[in-house]
Amino acid sequence: MRFHYECTDCSQTYHTDEVIYLCPSCAKENTDSSHMKKGNLIVRYEEEDMRKLSSKEDLSYFDFFPYEVPNHAAFPVGPTPIAEPFRLAARYGFSNLACKLDSALPSGSFKDRASQLIIGQAQHHGIDSIALASTGNAGAAMSCAGAAYGVKIVLFVPETAPANKLMQSVLYGADVVPVKGSYDDAFSLSIAYTDEFGGINRNTAYNPMTVEGKKSISIELFIQKGRKIPDVVYVSTGDGCIYAGVVKGFMDLYQAGLTDRIPRVVCVQSDQSNAIAHAWETGEFTNVEATTRADSINVSSPANGRMAVRYINESEAWATQVTDEEILAAQLELAKDAGIFVEPAAACAWAGFVRDSEKLKETVGSDADICVLLTGTGFKDMAVFDGRISLPEPIENSKDAVRERFQKK
Ligand SMILES: Cc1ncc(COP(=O)(O)O)c(C=O)c1O
Repeated sequence: MRFHYECTDCSQTYHTDEVIYLCPSCAKENTDSSHMKKGNLIVRYEEEDMRKLSSKEDLSYFDFFPYEVPNHAAFPVGPTPIAEPFRLAARYGFSNLACKLDSALPSGSFKDRASQLIIGQAQHHGIDSIALASTGNAGAAMSCAGAAYGVKIVLFVPETAPANKLMQSVLYGADVVPVKGSYDDAFSLSIAYTDEFGGINRNTAYNPMTVEGKKSISIELFIQKGRKIPDVVYVSTGDGCIYAGVVKGFMDLYQAGLTDRIPRVVCVQSDQSNAIAHAWETGEFTNVEATTRADSINVSSPANGRMAVRYINESEAWATQVTDEEILAAQLELAKDAGIFVEPAAACAWAGFVRDSEKLKETVGSDADICVLLTGTGFKDMAVFDGRISLPEPIENSKDAVRERFQKK
């Protein structure tokens, strides 16, 4: 589809087929490191192209993309399963509750959605290398896609990033470059790399196609539900890029005339990493000191914070904050009572739903159609159970030992 860019902050538009990143004029204002960065670009389509989609029969999310994605069966991004956890639905008193399992994507996280479109962007421009900074899932997702398409991936990571997530990228064959510095330092070096050696830069939110790729979940969900949208969607939020992508997908469906409203998309954050929730509540776009155990959403300076706050308001939703204890309890509840194993950052969305459950009954009713997005598999971070959950002691190899173990006390 034909597209152009619009700045989230100053609304300036840019019509170009070149790869561009931030709004050049707003990005100049990003000198105050205590405030959220400005200048993220939104991808906008021609009204005429969008309207054509309203009468299309075999709709797919690729119809809503700015670039073709070649050979997409090589890196199959969705449709991901929708679980209906009836035991949990009964516990919280809802009749129409679902969880969308993006933990089932090829690299185990939602980030595959952005990486898929970045491959399309690279191939459109005839570019065969992509660089990024990441502490985990985005790097693994891009490396996985790179392996599937034969595209070179250069991944800058702070040396302190969780080893188990980085190992995945090493296994996929990415050129992993640990940096003696922070994520922000790795971010700057990845830009220095693409400036000097070329290639696409896929940094989250910096490249507008990361938000745009993530919108595929909303369109996929709409199609899976027989062209219906839920009433309320819960999304775990760190940088605000997934959150913005989810809202953008629903907005595109609305713009195409395929829906008559957009759902309330609830932004869920840890109260130990709450820059976006705080900005939404107070109107102050300041960074925070982030200390949550849910490492994928541990963000001091959200790269897409301003757009996320704007979209919370435009979807007439709200931000819900939860504690780390609630996140870890939510992770165990999903595993034990629904058979869904996700990493803490993903469980944050479930914790937000649990926290809001009474309020939801008053605002949208217990028969509202609610979807909780679960963004990453639990196998990514087994260290979170250290000291909390241990394997049972072995028994002797004898029938007596079995009897002893299971006899009624
Ligand atoms: C599993 C998981 N869930 C949620 C998020 C939050 O996404 P965002 O940083 O775009 O808000 C991330 C980001 O890395 C993630 O990996």
